[in-house]
Amino acid sequence: MKIINSIEQLRKDVIRRKEEGDTIGFVPTMGYLHEGHLALAKQARAENDFVIMSIFVNPTQFGPAEDYEKYPRNEQRDVALAAGADVDIVFMPDVKEMYPRVGTIDITPGVQANVLCGKTRPSHFDGVLKIILKFFNIINPDRSYFGMKDAQQLAIIETFVEDFNFNTTIERVPTKREKDGLAKSSRNVRLTEQERLEAPAIYEALKRGKEIFEEKKDIQQTEDEVRKYIEANISGEIDYISFLAYPSLEPWTTGDEEAILACAVQFEQTRLIDNLLLTTKG
Ligand code: PAF
Repeated sequence: MKIINSIEQLRKDVIRRKEEGDTIGFVPTMGYLHEGHLALAKQARAENDFVIMSIFVNPTQFGPAEDYEKYPRNEQRDVALAAGADVDIVFMPDVKEMYPRVGTIDITPGVQANVLCGKTRPSHFDGVLKIILKFFNIINPDRSYFGMKDAQQLAIIETFVEDFNFNTTIERVPTKREKDGLAKSSRNVRLTEQERLEAPAIYEALKRGKEIFEEKKDIQQTEDEVRKYIEANISGEIDYISFLAYPSLEPWTTGDEEAILACAVQFEQTRLIDNLLLTTKG
């Protein structure tokens, strides 16, 4: 496995691979790898000749009061895990390499960014699209792999790819969970011992909400059920509980084929998100 820090070097390697007719699978990450990332890498490995993983904590997707500085990092461990997942190249640029200038062109997503996490993280998805656009331009991947845990990010990136005719296929990869149901996340390490015990209640609440929806087809009752369960079992503050059509993220109506039941909870030092994708037609 090769570690590359410069855009120029990465471009050279990509061109060589493309000339040899290889397909390229791309796994973007912010590091502190866990099984969720490794599942993306595994799928990329199975579906492509060559796999590139980026490890870059992207400053433009963090708001001023957010956890950019405190975001967990462990490059040595990440490199070992990526090698174990049979990744061909790990791209680990520094901030200067990716953002040599400030105050350049921004990208603003549409209405999909006005709900869920976008309400409390107003420029988060601008930053995500900016770095993803740069990666797509540098790597030109045949397939790009994103986890369903970040369902809003995935929906916005799918729209971005369609709207701007990027030549990459977005692959949705299901959420990986701990044995107790907690969605795997790099941010889980920032939970206190007590919060870690409580956190699996998020998934339990979503499952209960899903059952209510399947029985009653009532969004209010569904969201209320999730709220009630989280409030009874978690000390953190609910940021949102929301049931929306997927991937449009518009209010759900009976004609919509898929929906997500999503929630975010703010704990003392970190904020966790989770969701369930529901088939709603028929
Ligand atoms: O999901 C993430 O880890 C990040 O938002 C991504 C897609 C790597 C962009 O920085």
